[in-house]
Amino acid sequence: MPARASSKNHTPVSSAQIRAFRKKVLAYYARHGRDLPWRKRVTPFRVLISEIMLQQTQVDRVIDKFREFLAAFPGFAQLAEAPLPMLLSIWSGMGYNRRALALKKLAQVVVDEHRGRLPSDPEALKKLPGIGPYTAGAIAAFAFNNPVVFMDTNIRRVFIHEFFAGRAQVHDDELLPLVERALDRKDPSRWYNALMDYGTMLKKEHGNPNRRSMHYIRQSPFENSNRQVRGAILKVLVKGRELTAAQIAEEAGVDPKRVEQNLSRLADEGFLNRRGKRFMIQ
Ligand code: ADE
Repeated sequence: MPARASSKNHTPVSSAQIRAFRKKVLAYYARHGRDLPWRKRVTPFRVLISEIMLQQTQVDRVIDKFREFLAAFPGFAQLAEAPLPMLLSIWSGMGYNRRALALKKLAQVVVDEHRGRLPSDPEALKKLPGIGPYTAGAIAAFAFNNPVVFMDTNIRRVFIHEFFAGRAQVHDDELLPLVERALDRKDPSRWYNALMDYGTMLKKEHGNPNRRSMHYIRQSPFENSNRQVRGAILKVLVKGRELTAAQIAEEAGVDPKRVEQNLSRLADEGFLNRRGKRFMIQ
């Protein structure tokens, strides 16, 4: 049963509760921890790719893409030189293609400015393209075993379930001190992996406690979204083809006006080049 401490009445969470919680989560992980490819042969590059993929795509879908990506681009040097059509073709099906572009840029910066090595400090990581505070923390913990405190959707779910039973509108500021106290400083990487798996289990067993977070945002529906239109455009162009907006709209089966709008944006963001009336992946 979740402890009720720190709910409405703000009863402080005791050190004994924290210890019991840590023991329970680690015991769960020892028995049910997932055998995920990026947890084997841990390298900064593999952790980076997995974390970027996991930002907006579910674990099951990431597993195959992760293997495919690593086979095509085994390290920073190859990723920095990645041909865009190949990169986007491998990324297809995961959505949010901007992540793929950011990864290539990041690899270029790592090669040019960090002698091919990913920094281990979250502040330096946050300066790289596509890396926000969560991803910086996750990379520092998983790749370098740094005892950093960070929040993500799984971690949030675990702490809300465990320490805020019956509370709505829980703010991350209330959770972070507990995340810090519970952190297993002997092995932060194992600890955060355990939290990820425990959080995934909670979602399956208890619905989603994150509905009670102040920071809960449901992912917007994919059907009819700009995300869908962008994905459809890139799919039509991905084989190195050069097509006009009208041809793209026809092949993708999308309203030409929406294709036009999204083509300009994709060009501004660096996905596409334009030659006269024709568009192509850069
Ligand atoms: N979600 C984000 N990072 C993850 C990880 N390393 N393992 C499982 N799920 C995650």
